[in-house]
Amino acid sequence: MEIGNSKVVPAKILSAATVGLKSELIEVEVDTVSAGLHQFNIVGLPDAAVKESRDRVSAAIRNAKFKPPHQCGRVTINLAPADLKKEGPVYDLPMALGFLLTTKQINFDYKNKLFLGELSLDGKIRPVKGVLPMAILARDLGIAEIYVPAENASEASVIEEISVIPVANFLDLVAHLLGKKKIEPAPKTDLEKFFSVEESLLDMSFIRGQEHAKRALEIAAAGGHNVILNGPPGSGKTMLAKTMASILPRLTVPEALEVTKIFSVSGQLPRGTALITRRPFRSPHHTASPVSLVGGGTYPRPGEVSLSHRGILFLDEFPEFSRNVLENLRQPLEDGLITISRAQGSLEFPARFTLIAAMNPCPCGNATDPEKACSCSPANIIKYQRKISGPILDRIDLHVEVPRIKFEKLNEVYQGEASASIRERVSRARAVQVQRFTGLTTVTNSEMGSVEIKNFCFLDTPSLELMKSAVSRFYLSARAYYRIIKVARTIADLEESPQICPQHIAEAIQYRFKTE
Ligand SMILES: Nc1ncnc2c1ncn2[C@@H]1O[C@H](COP(=O)(O)OP(=O)(O)OP(=O)(O)O)[C@@H](O)[C@H]1O
Ligand SMILES: [Mg+2]
Repeated sequence: MEIGNSKVVPAKILSAATVGLKSELIEVEVDTVSAGLHQFNIVGLPDAAVKESRDRVSAAIRNAKFKPPHQCGRVTINLAPADLKKEGPVYDLPMALGFLLTTKQINFDYKNKLFLGELSLDGKIRPVKGVLPMAILARDLGIAEIYVPAENASEASVIEEISVIPVANFLDLVAHLLGKKKIEPAPKTDLEKFFSVEESLLDMSFIRGQEHAKRALEIAAAGGHNVILNGPPGSGKTMLAKTMASILPRLTVPEALEVTKIFSVSGQLPRGTALITRRPFRSPHHTASPVSLVGGGTYPRPGEVSLSHRGILFLDEFPEFSRNVLENLRQPLEDGLITISRAQGSLEFPARFTLIAAMNPCPCGNATDPEKACSCSPANIIKYQRKISGPILDRIDLHVEVPRIKFEKLNEVYQGEASASIRERVSRARAVQVQRFTGLTTVTNSEMGSVEIKNFCFLDTPSLELMKSAVSRFYLSARAYYRIIKVARTIADLEESPQICPQHIAEAIQYRFKTE
């Protein structure tokens, strides 16, 4: 390792890799030997994008008027730990700096600093994926400064305890590190100011009638319960589901960080966005593949179920999704996460979404219409409804009939309740839940496990009697039993009643038996 013949200790520049939603520290070590033919190797399980770094790093160094690798004999770059697969161009920047340090072309204190960024041939720094989890890693390891592409700076500056240096250009960075021209750290992001209430274009008051469905959506928004809307064409199912976004409560700061991390890792964070502050509302088309819905790929990426974490996953035309795709929803609907297994091990992504499904009762759509004739044969109706399996229906708490609206209702002068006032009730019910689950990982009533149900859902004798008769009359599964109690807890919270009363149980039970 030399320029001349003196021994040089290789520089170890810190960088980071993302595995699932977590980040791992990567040490970039550069070693050069002047003897022998020119070679430039990258070792430590690099993927194709990392291997291509050689060309980008060489060009950027040459264009910055430094001595490039091909004039320095044999150059080896090791990305440690060697057993972790490295992907993407994020190591370009630490590799270039490590090379300049090892060949003594520049000298600076590289300890306690973390570098991320893709180099373009002319030395500009391009944005990379997963900067937020990497910034969290830096904070957890007590690293003082993190150097990120300028476009990713707002994302990293959400993390308060570290200094984020936005880098637009390789030469500027070198000048900064040599103390010649300082780059100012990115200003800290004031989290609270992001969360101003946004007005939604679709307001619940635009929807005529369907009070029953609106009530169910209010309960769903308050407690995170899953809903299925079933009714004839044109009755407003899609419209109802879309207005759901306007009654969702504000994301809390920890929730916003969780959601932003998922978007950051999947490369879907809009440029310049520091934090996702709206609850996600995802509506994948029914032709979606299993991987796009649940996540996966060679380097596993989150799918729609994770991108809708802490928000809504709206599956319109529910029976049109392939059965294979729908069955994949079983695990996330139950556990709030998805496990993706690969030969190298398995990864978990959070997937705590509220499912809103919409369907017609039969292929022509009129099976439940009391006035309009249905043209489907009974066998066809059964075949259509069988597309959704019992286990999936069992995981849905609120089964809601959305009937065709009559002319008189459509032309009524009466204006329904505005989303803003529904959202207020929903937010109050959420605040009760935040209080209830202090110190626990649970956020909403729908996530309660059996211990929490025991602790927070005491049923008096009349309520127990009601549950007993429901179980024996409708042959309820154990899951359905507990889910009804959880919905009743939310209904009580909406009324600000500390005790679950029989009327709460009764309302929760009647949502269970519409589409089954
Ligand atoms: N209750 C309603 N109040 C006001 N407008 C409505 C209502 N129901 C339907 N509409 C109008 O009809 C249009 C179609 O409704 P929507 O797409 O929600 O029906 P749908 O139930 O999803 O039908 P399909 O089963 O065919 O998907 C809406 O864009 C809206 O303009
Ligand atoms: Mg529709």
